[in-house]
Amino acid sequence: LSTSPAMAAAIKKVTVIGGGLMGSGIAQVAAQTGHHVTIVEINEEAIKKAKNGIESSLQRVAKKLYKDKPGEGETFVKETLSRLSTSLDLKEAVKNTDLVVEAIVENLDLKHKLFLSIDSVAPEHTIFASNTSSLSIQDIASVTKRKDRFGGLHFFNPVPVMKLLEVIRIPETSDETYEKITAWGKALGKTTITCKDTPGFVVNRLLVPLLAEAVRMLERGDATARDIDTAMKLGAGHPMGPLELADYVGNDTTKFILDGWHQKYPNVELFKPVPLLNKLVEEGKLGLKSGEGFYKYDKGTK
Ligand code: NAI
Repeated sequence: LSTSPAMAAAIKKVTVIGGGLMGSGIAQVAAQTGHHVTIVEINEEAIKKAKNGIESSLQRVAKKLYKDKPGEGETFVKETLSRLSTSLDLKEAVKNTDLVVEAIVENLDLKHKLFLSIDSVAPEHTIFASNTSSLSIQDIASVTKRKDRFGGLHFFNPVPVMKLLEVIRIPETSDETYEKITAWGKALGKTTITCKDTPGFVVNRLLVPLLAEAVRMLERGDATARDIDTAMKLGAGHPMGPLELADYVGNDTTKFILDGWHQKYPNVELFKPVPLLNKLVEEGKLGLKSGEGFYKYDKGTK
């Protein structure tokens, strides 16, 4: 099997652009599963942060996987790190890679600038993918000449823990590209689902409106925050209530996603702005990370 064209063409070398929360996780899991990974960042400080984060996360994984064999755990960490490199030179980093996974900030102009700058530098066969949560893959891909080799790979935070990977196809994505990125996702140990390029894909398209509806209920005074959360936990079997989840995600993030969709689809009721959510963000009540959102948290919870 290893000599079949499909295997020969499998993705082995990966460039992850942006080594923040998501990029570090994606790079870590890819390296753990035997891929050679380069993380591209914008400055030394960001590189250092990404490296330190990955190393401590790997130590935790090793402790769990090799509980009684610390020696093997050490080897696992060392070998995984040996497959990871970092770079500040974007163009150089994509010259010899099978897949580019973009995980920079959620800003269409910046993503355009990035893909435009590497389209003519990366090899012909290289596939481009974006980890965007809320932007359209089609919009991002529009600046490139390789739309047949473009798709969405939407991971979940924390990447080493969360099992799901949403694979997004745009109409131009070729079957070969789709098969390669799906196979790569499975090689990473993820369960993949396939989705069209629709706002929020599956998870966020259902989750963000749920959070917004919960805030609207609270705003109307239909029920208290506690009762809304208790209802969904005990009545729908959700592990977290929608307002607790909103605090966990960050009210600024939920607002940012809703605002983006509302701008693009002004007639969709579910995407309309929620005054209470906007007010909390204005007041800096972002949720867990700021110490207060729909609930109050002890300082240093996160
Ligand atoms: P983050 O802010 O933690 O990381 C972004 C990183 O990109 C930063 O380290 C920044 O220095 C770097 N960066 C910015 N411009 C760059 C450039 N031109 N070249 C190289 N590096 C650059 O953001 P996070 O949360 O990791 O999000 C990244 C992407 O992943 C966004 O598109 C977001 O929508 C998506 N996403 C986020 C999830 C989350 O739970 N935070 C979940 C799934 C997707």
